[in-house]
Amino acid sequence: MNEKSSSAGENIATLLRPFQQLTSIVPPIWLMRQAGRYLPEYRRLREQAGSFLNLCYSPKLASEVTLQPIRRFDFDAAILFADILIVPDALGQVVEFVEAEGPRLEPITSTSELRKLDSGQTAATFEKIYQTVALIRQELPPDKVLIGFCGAPWTVATYMVAGRGTPDQAAARAWAYRDPTGFAELIELLTTTSSEYLAGQIDAGAQVVQIFDTWAGSLPDDQFARWVIEPTRRIVHHLKQRHPKVPIIGFPRGAGPLTVRYVDETGVDGIGCDTALSLPFIREQLAGKAVVQGNLDPLLLACGGEALAQRVSEILAQLSDMPYVFNLGHGIVPHTPPENVARLVACVRGTAGG
Ligand code: CP3
Repeated sequence: MNEKSSSAGENIATLLRPFQQLTSIVPPIWLMRQAGRYLPEYRRLREQAGSFLNLCYSPKLASEVTLQPIRRFDFDAAILFADILIVPDALGQVVEFVEAEGPRLEPITSTSELRKLDSGQTAATFEKIYQTVALIRQELPPDKVLIGFCGAPWTVATYMVAGRGTPDQAAARAWAYRDPTGFAELIELLTTTSSEYLAGQIDAGAQVVQIFDTWAGSLPDDQFARWVIEPTRRIVHHLKQRHPKVPIIGFPRGAGPLTVRYVDETGVDGIGCDTALSLPFIREQLAGKAVVQGNLDPLLLACGGEALAQRVSEILAQLSDMPYVFNLGHGIVPHTPPENVARLVACVRGTAGG
């Protein structure tokens, strides 16, 4: 089992190695948020678990949920089922997921509140997630790759400071301007904790990891360098020392032209491209530097039809002659019909017919 799963790891490692020109006519495919509410089998287990956090912390249920989309759609990779807000929860911040609303946290707005968090207590919480990783790796067919993940320090900080998701991340941005030294303490805590957390996921069986920086696009370039690039570079550096062969995908959503600098300076092996990056930009500015992943609009996947098939061919025509992993530009939206996902996989693999 171990030998087989490590060869699956090497396959994607080869695929995700930068500067290597592979001609992959059929790119591997997985989708951000591929496990979730759009699947009836997810909704059933979610109900059984009671709360979303219960689901995340129950290794049996979380591994089952991780495997559901693999069984249904035969994706090439599974992504650990958990959430980026596991890290603040493990640090002792009060985190809750309110039905139909989203996450609510007890906001942290000063260094004195920040210092009440306890980085010494994270291991017991992370252990439950590592158990899930190990269980998934046991169950997952050996040719499928297991992806671990965390939220990037900046994005996780935006939730910790505002206490919820916000359209403009104003609370965290304002703290960073008002008191950069205090805010740096929060980012530092998240950088070291997340480095440890990802290394633990790799030790437990994750073969690739992705760093989700959903709100990277809300910062001007100087702030982007300090709060997005620098902490990510440090996480990459830490992981490369411990696990040099494990590919790391960065997803600095909304970063626009700063994505080039992000790739150059963080050392990520793969770059998640959001929906707004143009195909020529991706081809000309990113493809030679890192393995490209993503870009299909999740709303188009929800809509389906001929427009979906056409856009998929266009993406494949532009990107599939270079190291490319098919994915969305952001997570699947809950009203996506599962049959559209099946059709997408068939289109990418050239088995859609018609
Ligand atoms: O991709 C996967 O299938 C793996 C699981 C995963 C989840 N969240 C499950 C989830 C991953 C990788 C995440 C990452 C995540 N979580 C991000 C970064 C990526 C992105 O989507 O921008 C962020 C910002 C979060 C924080 C978060 N978690 C929010 C804002 C919400 C509420 C919004 C919503 O869709 O309900 C969640 C809840 C959440 N995380 C759900 C799932 C399946 C839905 C919860 C439910 O079932 O009730």
